[in-house]
Order: sequence, then C-alpha cells, then structure tokens
Amino acid sequence: MEGFPSDFVWGTATAAYQIEGAVTEDGRGPSIWDTFSHTSGNITDGSTGDVADDHYHRYAEDVAIMAGLGMNAYRFSIAWPRIFPSGSGDLNQAGVDFYRRLAEACLERGITPYATLYHWDLPQPLEDAGGWLNRDTAVRFRDYAAATQQALGDVISHWITLNEPWCSGFLGYAMGVHAPGKTVGAEAMRAVHHLLLGHGLAIQAMREGPSGRLGITLNLSSVRPASASAGDEEAARRMDGLANRLFLDPVLLGRYPDDVLENAGVTEWFVQMSDDLADIAAPIDFMGVNYYTRHTYAGPDDGVFQGPTIMGPGGIADIRDVGTDAPRTQMDWEVHPDGLIDVVRLVSDRAPSLPVYITENGAAYPDEVTGEGTVDDEDRRHFFELHLNAAREAIDSGLPLRGYFAWSLLDNFEWAFGYSRRFGIVYVDYETQQRIVKRSGQWFRDRLQAASPDS
Ligand code: FCB
Repeated sequence: MEGFPSDFVWGTATAAYQIEGAVTEDGRGPSIWDTFSHTSGNITDGSTGDVADDHYHRYAEDVAIMAGLGMNAYRFSIAWPRIFPSGSGDLNQAGVDFYRRLAEACLERGITPYATLYHWDLPQPLEDAGGWLNRDTAVRFRDYAAATQQALGDVISHWITLNEPWCSGFLGYAMGVHAPGKTVGAEAMRAVHHLLLGHGLAIQAMREGPSGRLGITLNLSSVRPASASAGDEEAARRMDGLANRLFLDPVLLGRYPDDVLENAGVTEWFVQMSDDLADIAAPIDFMGVNYYTRHTYAGPDDGVFQGPTIMGPGGIADIRDVGTDAPRTQMDWEVHPDGLIDVVRLVSDRAPSLPVYITENGAAYPDEVTGEGTVDDEDRRHFFELHLNAAREAIDSGLPLRGYFAWSLLDNFEWAFGYSRRFGIVYVDYETQQRIVKRSGQWFRDRLQAASPDS
C-alpha cells in the first residue's frame, strides 16, 4: 500500500467464538461463552454463537475472500475447547484438523496465519474449577499452547498467546459483562496475574517447540486527563496504570507497577505472587496491540480518591470517562486516530526495537444492503483511512510498527452485543450466510492491489 514498507503485514482479524458456529461439532467441548450466551439477560439481543458466521463450514470461501482483498496475513483464534474439549487430557484430533485445513487454505493463497491461542473461550470445566482465579488454569494454558503448537507448528509460524487479558480479567471477573460473568472485586487481580502467568509459561514452553514468532495481544488505552486539575491528572494516571502499565510492565520489564497494586488495594497478597514475574517476562518476538478509541478521564473535584481504583460492576469509583466532542461509532467509542500512535509508543518506550503489530482496529456502524446489493459503509471506510494515516505517521516517526489487522473480516457475534454491532469489512446476511464485500473492503482491495499489481 502506498506509503507503507513493502514487507508490511496486511491482514484482517477474527475470533473463534465470534465466527465459527458448529459449537458441538467434531468433539468440541463447551466454553464459558457458550454458557454465558445461553444464560438469559447476558446478550443484548438474546443471541448466541451457536451458528455465528458458520465459518467452521465456510472457511474456504472466507479465505478466498481475504485473498481477493489482497491481504497477506490472517489473524484468527484457536478454540481451546476444540483442541482439549475439557481443558486438558486427550487432544481432540478433529479439532486440530480443522485449524490445519484453515492454515493450509491460507498458505495456498499466500496468506500467513497468525493464530491467537486464547480469545476468551475458556473450556467450561476449567471455569468450574475456578477459571482464571485458579492458578492451575495458567498451567493448563501452557500445556494447551505447547500441544497445539507441536501439532500445527509446521503450518502456523506466528503465535499470539492471549487476546486482551484486560478484558478477560476485568470484564469477565470484575464487571461481569463478559463470560464467566463474575464480580469478585479486587480478586479479579488474581485472574489478571494468572492470565499473565499463563502467557509467560506458554511462551517458555513454545520456545522449546517448533520454531516460530511468539507474542501477545494487549488492548492498550490512549488516555488523557480531562483538565490540568490534580484530580483529573491523577485519574488519568490511575487509568493508564490499570489499562496499560499493569500489563506492559510485567510482560516487558518483569515488574508490576507498585502504585497500581496500591491503588487497587491488593499490595500484600499480590506481592506473594511476584516470584512469577521472571516467568511472565519471558522474551517475546512481537507485541500485538488492539486499538479502538481514546479516553478522557476526570477524577473527584477535590482530588481526593475515596475508593480503590479497581474495576467493579459499575465501573470505577471516583473516575469518569467524560469524553470529548469527537465523532463516535455505534459502540459509542470516540474516533481518535492519533491514539493509535500513542499505544504503539507505549510499547516502544519499554522495548524500543520490539516489532509491534496493530492486531485489531475497526469500527461498528449500522450497515444496510442497498437495492443493488452493495453495502456503502463510507463511515467505516473513512475510519480506516484516518487510522492508516496514523499508522503511516507512526512508521515515519521511526516507531517499529510492522503490520495492521482490520477488525474484522466478517460481521460477527460481538460478545455481549450479539449480532447488533457490525464490524466487518465483509457484510454477513445471518439468514442466508451470504457474504458481501463492503465498500470499506473494496477500498482495502484497491489500495493493496495498486501496491502489488501483479498479484
Ligand atoms: C475487542 C475484541 C474483539 C472484538 C472487538 C470489537 O476487544 O478483541 O473480539 O470484539 O473488540
């Protein structure tokens, strides 16, 4: 694409539970998202991922669409409960075979597979044993990661351990809006720690396996104080701590930020786990960053914080995201392309030469199919144009940004929002499973083809 290095990685991203369907096929076991979505009241439109985009059966068509768009990479996730239906024990060969077929279909079309090992679909039996609050889950994750890499390392060379541990830990165990829907308060920090430990143990185990490039994907936050007041500055600092430093510092620097633990009120019991930091900081080959929006935080007017700074069912005491007047997407997320540069910088400030990939970036807007059968998503196309301009700016300023994955290839099951939010550059008619490349998808295709007219 014009203005980008010729070896830049261009892809789209998806996640297993959001697109695959076929939830009981070929031996797949139940995950926490099956349980959560089948529990009434959890998903705004009452839907589940039972069928989703039926990608499990239509993967070949979907890979052909990617190739038609000119993409050279594809980030998908592997469903742990397809590989180990009860979380551990005997490997389910039929599950491995599906991802082998998918990876081979990609490779045949010149698309490099980037596999995420955990995009939130924990096998239900592991949740029944305590889920991420239980240290043993980190060990199970290591074993699953190592076995999966062993089984598929000849066709998959790029591995991402976790997708957005912030969401798994805090949305899942503190706010209760994602599976498993728990609200355990500061104990959610235990889940965060075990997620990070699982990551580090998996990286170490995978280093012993087939050669590959290993990383993790974090959802980093671009944060601003609402004003220069002491309360707002402190609010922004605390949120930067909880969203960014709590994850970046252990993974890249081998330490937890003291102030974050203190503000969260967990210092004593958390310190006992600090022996794990050397494992958590196992060297990685790249950092994936998901970027969607920027936040503007205000603190208490008098600057005095009453409660601990930790996610709870209603958010965080004392801190509000007051926003700006920037345009918003259908998720109510503000559009701030410059935040993309901020989040890449958060990584390179700590690890200057570590390659960074934007592993997700995209926007939900209400789409309609026109009488001519097209989807003219000018708002989404414009969103991508603005963010790619920011990506180019990041590269021009010397930041080691090496790739960009649009979220998402297909409209899909948007977690607690069900099918009521469309993020795809390809429209999906959920009744017929017909796919229509949206205008935003055509825009990518035109730009990518212009850059390599022979392909
Ligand atoms: C991210 C998730 C992804 C998708 C986008 C919109 O937090 O990783 O699965 O839901 O948000």
